[in-house]
Amino acid sequence: MSLVWKAARSAGLQGSFRVPGDKSISHRAIMFGALAEGITRVSGFLEGEDTRATAQIFSQLGVRIETPDAQSRVIHGVGLHGLHASASPLDCGNAGTGMRLLSGLLCAQAFDSVLTGDASLSQRPMARVIGKLQALGGQISAREGNYAPLHIHGGQHLRPVEIDTGVASAQVKSALLLAAMYAEGESVITEPRPTRDYTEAMLKSLDWPIDYSPGRVRIRGGGRLQAGDIRIPGDISSAAFFITAALLIPDSDITLENIGINPRRTGILQALRLMGGRIEVFNEREQGGEPVADLHIVHSALKAIELPESLVPDMIDECPIFFVAAALAEGTTHARGLGELRIKESDRIASMVAGLRAMGVAVEETPESVTITGGALHGASIDSHDDHRIAMSFAVAAQCASGQTLIHDCENVATSFPGFVDLARSAGMILE
Ligand code: S3P
Repeated sequence: MSLVWKAARSAGLQGSFRVPGDKSISHRAIMFGALAEGITRVSGFLEGEDTRATAQIFSQLGVRIETPDAQSRVIHGVGLHGLHASASPLDCGNAGTGMRLLSGLLCAQAFDSVLTGDASLSQRPMARVIGKLQALGGQISAREGNYAPLHIHGGQHLRPVEIDTGVASAQVKSALLLAAMYAEGESVITEPRPTRDYTEAMLKSLDWPIDYSPGRVRIRGGGRLQAGDIRIPGDISSAAFFITAALLIPDSDITLENIGINPRRTGILQALRLMGGRIEVFNEREQGGEPVADLHIVHSALKAIELPESLVPDMIDECPIFFVAAALAEGTTHARGLGELRIKESDRIASMVAGLRAMGVAVEETPESVTITGGALHGASIDSHDDHRIAMSFAVAAQCASGQTLIHDCENVATSFPGFVDLARSAGMILE
């Protein structure tokens, strides 16, 4: 039986709360903790299916990982050359980050590995990592069309490269960085637009020789990783559903605590502010090398904008909820440069356009743009396309719609935001 959510109009969100830990940082904390020498203690770990799949994979590769309590992990690092072959395939579940980063790491190992994923992940393009990793000498074969399962042929001698990722993707960049750690000599990796730099930041904090600035990384191969504690802040991608809901629902006033505000992730705050959203960032501090803050959000009348294309990589996972904001703003919003959305957990342009139309919104799409005219929303039956962020976006849209909304196939919300329904209800959303 598929999980169906029932949602209706909310009278306002109130309260002060936290959201689960950052997904991108949680994946990387497991990976680099495993490769470090010594014990790494991780707090704020995202207990989602995606990040647990990554932890399970490292257990299969011979790394002891303890769970002293929820949201904590103690990783007994085995060093750069201490991983062991797994007798069975490594299942990344729904996680593109898991599969793409592991491709880079595993092609540098002495042994062979097989990476598998769920139905959605098995339809997502892997050519972008397979082709680039070949430049370092990595050998990966895939199902026809370059889809998972991926067979990774270890035992290769990797060489350093100077390479451009060709696409604004932190996953591709990170796969290359993980492989470059094993290449003899210095690699330089550039990208067409700067993307999230958590891999670079974590390597630096664990004492790896690396230099980076937005869009360019220089990394030396053949070092050692020093174990160190990792504190993971709240995920701004999860916070975005509450930020947008509070702006849209009259009489809302909320505070979100301990949210990561890395500049490569805060495009959504800039976009919503351009629309007239009142979002106050306060109590700014640094936590484990990452900027963190509390956010205060109050209901605001939003107006349509021309979304600056340069913001898109910095809000790539927040585009669906941004479309909901546009659907309730005054006027017509245009957003372009959105091609990457078509190859996420679902085709997020198609999923959002279909759902918004069902709710009565005037929306047009091209291969890489959308045009949305704000207006009144009515309840509808929505297909989430098994995509966590589509399900949560429509849960928010339904809070501002007349009548009842049903959202189908919401199981995958557990990949990134366990406890979403309980938290949403306690804040004042009408959702069950
Ligand atoms: C991520 C990078 C982004 C993002 C994903 C997480 C990461 O993907 O959409 O949710 O942790 O590196 P792309 O690299 O495909 O843009």
